[in-house]
Amino acid sequence: MRNTPRFSLFAWLAVFALAGFASFQSGNLSALTSVAQAQDFDSKKIVPFVPTPQEVVDKMIELAGVKKGDTVYDLGSGDGRIVITAAKKGAKAVGFEIDGDLVKESRENVRKAGVQNSAEIRQQDILTVDLSAASVVTMYLLPDVNLKLKPNLLSQLKPGSRVVSHSFDMGDWKPDKTERVDGRAIHLWTIPAKGR
Ligand SMILES: C[S@@+](CC[C@H](N)C(=O)[O-])C[C@H]1O[C@@H](n2cnc3c(N)ncnc32)[C@H](O)[C@@H]1O
Repeated sequence: MRNTPRFSLFAWLAVFALAGFASFQSGNLSALTSVAQAQDFDSKKIVPFVPTPQEVVDKMIELAGVKKGDTVYDLGSGDGRIVITAAKKGAKAVGFEIDGDLVKESRENVRKAGVQNSAEIRQQDILTVDLSAASVVTMYLLPDVNLKLKPNLLSQLKPGSRVVSHSFDMGDWKPDKTERVDGRAIHLWTIPAKGR
């Protein structure tokens, strides 16, 4: 006796209902995951966005002697202006930014500047960045954040790498050079040979 069609219809309805529920749930889950991730990034934002004026950016890049062959990391890259300026000098440039809106905006700015082949923005907490691939690190952060980064700068960067900070110094690690543009200090340090 073939009495299965009725059952099959219910079975199929049940399967579709379950599949729909599961996909609704997985949609909800991915939306929840995105919200949680955004909140996680928000909680890690330790410096507000204040852009460096372009003439100061230009001096930072000049002071660090950025050239082709360099890899420049901008820690807390904001709208991407330092990354873009470094890439225009022929360097590979990477910006690390935690704020999702700024990540989007700066990626768009990189694209508009036409430097997307040599510049990229990563959404990452600056305190977790492995700095070992950089030959130049740029920063416009806060005094206590500079001090938090100091051990990583000294232990991970290769000797001869340059660190440039807009405004804030590095406590008892004295800069090799300080210049001023429009009253703003720009400090330069060169990583010493290991063991010094
Ligand atoms: C003072 S702004 C400097 C922006 C850019 N470097 C410039 O000089 O124009 C500091 C940037 O650091 C970002 N920031 C703050 N905390 C961060 C963190 N934990 N990881 C990555 N970026 C962070 C902020 O969102 C902001 O864009």
